[in-house]
Amino acid sequence: MNIYQTKDYAHMSKLAANMMTAHILLKPDCRLGLATGSTPIGTYQQLVAHYRQGDVDFSKVCSVNLDEYKGMPPDHPQSYRYFMQHHLFQHVNIPPIHTHLPNGLAEDAAQECSRYDSVLRAVGGIDLQLLGLGNNGHIGFNEPSTSFAKTTHCVDLTESTVEANKRFFKQQEDVPRQAYTMGIASIMQARHILVLVSGEGKAEIVQAAFMGPITPQVPASILQLHANVTVIGDAPALSLLPSEVKTVTNAPIPAF
Ligand code: F6R
Repeated sequence: MNIYQTKDYAHMSKLAANMMTAHILLKPDCRLGLATGSTPIGTYQQLVAHYRQGDVDFSKVCSVNLDEYKGMPPDHPQSYRYFMQHHLFQHVNIPPIHTHLPNGLAEDAAQECSRYDSVLRAVGGIDLQLLGLGNNGHIGFNEPSTSFAKTTHCVDLTESTVEANKRFFKQQEDVPRQAYTMGIASIMQARHILVLVSGEGKAEIVQAAFMGPITPQVPASILQLHANVTVIGDAPALSLLPSEVKTVTNAPIPAF
């Protein structure tokens, strides 16, 4: 695991976007696993900037998102499809047919999970999987205690996740209680994993996930067993990690 500490959120986002753009330059038909949430927004903004500058071409890229709320229509402003359209897809030349998310409106949950696993197989697996980290250690919506062996499944969100997500909704009652998520087994098959963490509020879970025991109680701890993980975090998020496990990069990040 390579851990890079940047001085702030903007710096983290630039470094992450440079790494993603480099992946696409080296493999134009790169399969990206994408995440939503507040942490990757700056990275998506940087990727859009690279595209507008003519530095990256998404025409052969394919994306497979981690998760979607169950019951949420794709045009709902809090759906993850809407988030991806708004923050990335509509601003770059990725063909809509290359962008995959679970269908929140699917009538049969089991069928939707197996359809999504087939999508993952059909694209040939993920080259670079972007992840955020939940306050309780979740990745995707793999909540604490979930088996590491699961592929796509439908989950009941924990109270702590509902609480964390309520900032995006008018009232807590509006926060969906269930979601589809790629499973840990699927995430672990990605060839390279890029985890982004920002803010002091993540410091304790970062320490537990990357320095603590590997346990389903902290789903992200399984990433310690993946051969190719890069963590990029700002100084507050990485503040509880000892200096010998991280590379501090305070130098300006060159733009593409
Ligand atoms: C989003 C996702 C979640 C978030 C996590 C962190 O697609 O799968 O695991 O990455 O909840 O969210 P933020 O970035 O809002 O702290």
